Amino acid sequence: MPKIAPKDLRSAQWFNNPDNPEMTALYLERYLNYGMTRAELQGGKPIIGIAQTGSDLSPCNRHHIELAKRVRDGIIAAGGVPIEIPVHPIQETGKRPTASLDRNLAYLGLVEALYGYPIDGVVLTIGCDKTTPALLMAAATVNIPAIALSVGPMLNGWHEGERAGSGTVIWKAREMLAAGEINDDQFMDMAAASAPSVGYCNTMGTATTMNSLAEALGMQLPGAAAIPAPYRERGQISYETGLRIVDMVWDDLRPTDVMTRAAFENAIVVNSAIGGSTNAPIHLNAIAKHLGITLTNDDWQQVGHRVPLLVNLQPSGTYLGEDYHRAGGVPAVIGELIAADMLPHPDALTVNGRTMQDNCGLRRTVNDDVIHPASLPLMASAGFINLSGNLFDSAIMKTSVIGAAFRAAYLENPDDPNAFEGRAVVFDGPEDFHHRVDDPAENIDRDCILVMRGAGPKGYPGAAEVVNMRPPNYLIKQGIHALPCIGDGRQSGTSGSPSILNASPEAADNGGLALLQTGDRIRIDLNTFSANILVPEDELTARRDALIAKGGYPIPASQSPWQDIFRDLVEPLSEGMTLRGTTDHRDIARM
Ligand code: FES
Ligand code: MG
Repeated sequence: MPKIAPKDLRSAQWFNNPDNPEMTALYLERYLNYGMTRAELQGGKPIIGIAQTGSDLSPCNRHHIELAKRVRDGIIAAGGVPIEIPVHPIQETGKRPTASLDRNLAYLGLVEALYGYPIDGVVLTIGCDKTTPALLMAAATVNIPAIALSVGPMLNGWHEGERAGSGTVIWKAREMLAAGEINDDQFMDMAAASAPSVGYCNTMGTATTMNSLAEALGMQLPGAAAIPAPYRERGQISYETGLRIVDMVWDDLRPTDVMTRAAFENAIVVNSAIGGSTNAPIHLNAIAKHLGITLTNDDWQQVGHRVPLLVNLQPSGTYLGEDYHRAGGVPAVIGELIAADMLPHPDALTVNGRTMQDNCGLRRTVNDDVIHPASLPLMASAGFINLSGNLFDSAIMKTSVIGAAFRAAYLENPDDPNAFEGRAVVFDGPEDFHHRVDDPAENIDRDCILVMRGAGPKGYPGAAEVVNMRPPNYLIKQGIHALPCIGDGRQSGTSGSPSILNASPEAADNGGLALLQTGDRIRIDLNTFSANILVPEDELTARRDALIAKGGYPIPASQSPWQDIFRDLVEPLSEGMTLRGTTDHRDIARM
């Protein structure tokens, strides 16, 4: 039995309002003009939006322009009327200063489109990094029936017989170019080899992470995250997504029914198991907040830290997106977690009306070198820890990427295991880093901790992915490839550095990082999850007074009107980088 009668469809307020025939005529005539019939618009059929993130500006999601045709076919076959809705473009690698600045802009735009027009349900076309959180945040706020559809990863990249993954091959090629092993053309060939088809990044970067988590949250059909973009099954699942959203409207199955606290806890566990990006807490904390669910970085540590790593994908592992799909994708990861009793809420509901247990309970890995069973994990504790102290209230560290050399140098001191101290070398933004890092006068050695500040949501609007800093070239030549890094910015999901990231409050909010001076000692203690400047409290107070007297930590001028608005309203990375005031608006389609 449907829960919604045709007369109760939201779109009937526009197209079938007997109290206001004049407005109904006005609403109808332009959509009739577009080519639809009165029978379609007034016949009690759900109007289904397809929130379209693909465009020429957004190559990762561009294949959605093709997939949307299959979605339309599914919607029509199920008795709905499709309407495509353009979404503000977000292209991770092309947008200056950073694509994450536009996550909240796309969110606001889509909220207005879904709220202000006759839309009964929506298909969210996700893929490139920030498109996924932006669209899920909008669905959370508006709370009309919504289902996500990934564009799918690119095919595996290959270069000279080896897998060439998005991002990772560029870091490698850059080193080869610097060493004179390849020329400029060869550098470009290697980069292009990692992108052999339509789709999102084929490594376990932020895109694969967020698409996988959209499925783990229950917001995609099972298996929809990892099917490579050009595969036959990609078109089929697009069609099935179109079919399903129409039933979701009749069943009145809404984002608040699916994205519950239990769903977020499942997603945190899956993020650990897949070796997901350090950008995930920012985005999931933001989506949760728009639903009125408090999710904190402490939750990430408590729910996720002890979960083992199961998925062997680059950058930290071997394989790429096609392998992930063939090994069973997200359903196999969840099935393995359920089998090991590690998924906290197998009874969580998903968009197909069934639970995680129903969908994935019997699924197992098809290739246990790509997706390991939980009994033979790649690593024991793969989640994040949440650090705090006088440097910041919260910062994330991905302990699973701590390599043997780093561990030996910093964490295996028998007198003081899992803790280290270092001399701070402070950089104010990425330009400052590039100017100074190789200058011998800075005297950087293995006792140093590199600190990046001015790179948070306000300092570098949107927060730059710059915290993983390389040591000076003279140290690399001595075989020191990584120094500890701390910062108020982010880090690319395709980077495998154990930095301490997303520090909140940021320097631009006059947080502890703004008080730090080059030469101060810093102590990081992973036993107590603390990070502190070893400077007396009264000295820190004096520094804070002096900073405030000077007008606070300096931030550069905004380059666009949106940057100004964003800086005025943005909340810290630990709280999801949401805009102040926006998260109070909830369930607005029913208001
Ligand atoms: Fe768009 Fe990676 S840059 S998915
Ligand atoms: Mg990125």
